[in-house]
Amino acid sequence: MNTYIKGSTRLIGLLGNPVKHSKSPHMHNLCFEKLGLDYVYMAFGIQDNLIGKSVDAMRILNFKGFNVTMPHKQRVMDFLDEISEDAKIIGSVNTVVNNNGRLIGYNTDGRGFVKALEEEGQGFKDEKIIIIGAGGASKSISIQLAFDGAREVVLFNRTTHKAQEISDIINKEMPNSKARALELDEKILKKELKDSKVLINATSIGMKDTIDKSVITSPNILHKDLFVADIIYAPSKTKFLFQAEEVGCRTMNGTSMLLYQGALAFKMWTGKDMPIEDVKERIF
Ligand code: ATR
Repeated sequence: MNTYIKGSTRLIGLLGNPVKHSKSPHMHNLCFEKLGLDYVYMAFGIQDNLIGKSVDAMRILNFKGFNVTMPHKQRVMDFLDEISEDAKIIGSVNTVVNNNGRLIGYNTDGRGFVKALEEEGQGFKDEKIIIIGAGGASKSISIQLAFDGAREVVLFNRTTHKAQEISDIINKEMPNSKARALELDEKILKKELKDSKVLINATSIGMKDTIDKSVITSPNILHKDLFVADIIYAPSKTKFLFQAEEVGCRTMNGTSMLLYQGALAFKMWTGKDMPIEDVKERIF
């Protein structure tokens, strides 16, 4: 049981639906306790039509900030006072900071992925990056990579027009980066991979319902100089990552992205660096 909650303790929250599976409360509360910070983190399952009222409640209760997860990442933007430039371009918010009563929205998902790549020592600036998938996660990651200096971002998706929408945003907003959208065809993917350094699976294929599936059928389309990342963290190694290892690629699962998107939010709320090693040891 927590024994450190006092009259001065400030709340930080998570708004989503569902939230029961979330690792964020454990991660942040562990760090508050470790660093002796006077905060407590709670998760709230909120129905779609109640997101505005929930944000108002957080203002009234003087929350220091909150995370936002599916399905509220877009709608929450209507109820905030300010949105950071990159979150505006990405079109969704996962972290809100209460700055003396003003609620400011940020997106740390893509930045979390970039930090994870950097931790692996994998360069992406001036490189060509290939991303499979065009949902919310892909959008945050691909736009952030372009924002931070990737030369070219090529998006493959089953539903090509969704990849095209992300590609159009990058081409419009980031003139130093070029983006293209292509249909999910392995022959085309193999060709595009030849001069690429990083391949990312940002689809949900490989998660629990599709645990025996991969977004590619054959590892032969990969080459050993590729760095291959999956945003999935459960299972810790997807079939896609097993295929990449078979070819000799270096790989990364989704754990570090999850960790660093949280660490970036933690820093914004508390001004302190998250004790990453403790979190890795105790939670992941
Ligand atoms: P998230 O917010 O986690 O990114 P999402 O927005 O639902 O989740 O996106 C899921 C991604 O996985 C999409 O790119 C989706 O492809 P479509 O846009 O064509 O739906 C992709 N995906 C899911 N199941 C897939 C499957 N069986 N084959 C190919 N792509 C799949």
